[in-house]
Amino acid sequence: MSTNEPESQPFTAAADDAPASEATGERKPAGGSSNPDQTVISSRGLDVYYGEDQALHGIDMDIPEHQVTALIGPSGCGKSTFLRSINRMNDLIDVARVDGDLYFHGKNVYDEDVDPVALRRKIGMVFQKPNPFPKSIFDNVAYGLRVQGKDDDVEEKVLTALERAAILDEVEDRLDESGLELSGGQQQRLCIARAIATDPEVILMDEPASALDPVATSQIEDLVEELAEQYTVVIVTHNMQQAARISDKTAVFLTGGHLVEFDNTDKIFSNPENDRVEDYITGKFG
Ligand SMILES: Nc1ncnc2c1ncn2[C@@H]1O[C@H](COP(=O)(O)OP(=O)(O)OP(=O)(O)O)[C@@H](O)[C@H]1O
Ligand SMILES: [Mg+2]
Repeated sequence: MSTNEPESQPFTAAADDAPASEATGERKPAGGSSNPDQTVISSRGLDVYYGEDQALHGIDMDIPEHQVTALIGPSGCGKSTFLRSINRMNDLIDVARVDGDLYFHGKNVYDEDVDPVALRRKIGMVFQKPNPFPKSIFDNVAYGLRVQGKDDDVEEKVLTALERAAILDEVEDRLDESGLELSGGQQQRLCIARAIATDPEVILMDEPASALDPVATSQIEDLVEELAEQYTVVIVTHNMQQAARISDKTAVFLTGGHLVEFDNTDKIFSNPENDRVEDYITGKFG
């Protein structure tokens, strides 16, 4: 069975030669009927273990396209674990094991024919601590393009990515300087430019502003909202106001690795269904 989902750049093994119809999924997840938006990522019954310890329990979530979905909840509740399970970064942790289903455009990313490296090109990631490579500003952004052999028009692509990441004005005269010489906020926007240069569809951000001052934080927040016009953004934050300001959907995880409520951000912050969610967002615990 094939799917109607558009899939311009497949992420399965041997994808480059496969026609799009073969490279996409054989089944679509059920559900999502309450969500009129196009779903890009769906998890169904997702469990994640680290050795004997279960970090996530049966997570069901539909993440809509071109919107900002915030993941909130107290420390240790599994937000980063969930984020990493989307683009299979948990594969890099020896003791991590994933059960259940995680679909990207209807294709289970844990199927054997999925190439995790190709998947991560479509689902990029920005980490809490800015991590530019010890290379020039230009080369930081060009890196992924060169690795992928997309080295035509590199300069134009680099400048476009820097512009989209709202940092071009600050660096266009110093593209040869090391990325490590930038301020923390600039480094984070450089990392966002690096993540979008290769044209992913989804950007996962794990507390991208938590190490930044209020001005840099607000720049990142503005940027996230702009990015959502073109990309699907999933962002972990400990900052409730930030989640309320910038996200369309909010998922509240609570201790033990359970997704307790997932809804429109307005609803979560004004009238959550779950008392524990209300306690959490009003600061009574967590
Ligand atoms: N690499 C790892 N090895 C073993 N256990 C891990 C690993 N990473 C996370 N865990 C465990 O999984 C659980 C969830 O951790 P996770 O980092 O996903 O939480 P989090 O919600 O992102 O927390 P924080 O807000 O502090 O970043 C925790 O109990 C944690 O100890
Ligand atoms: Mg975390």
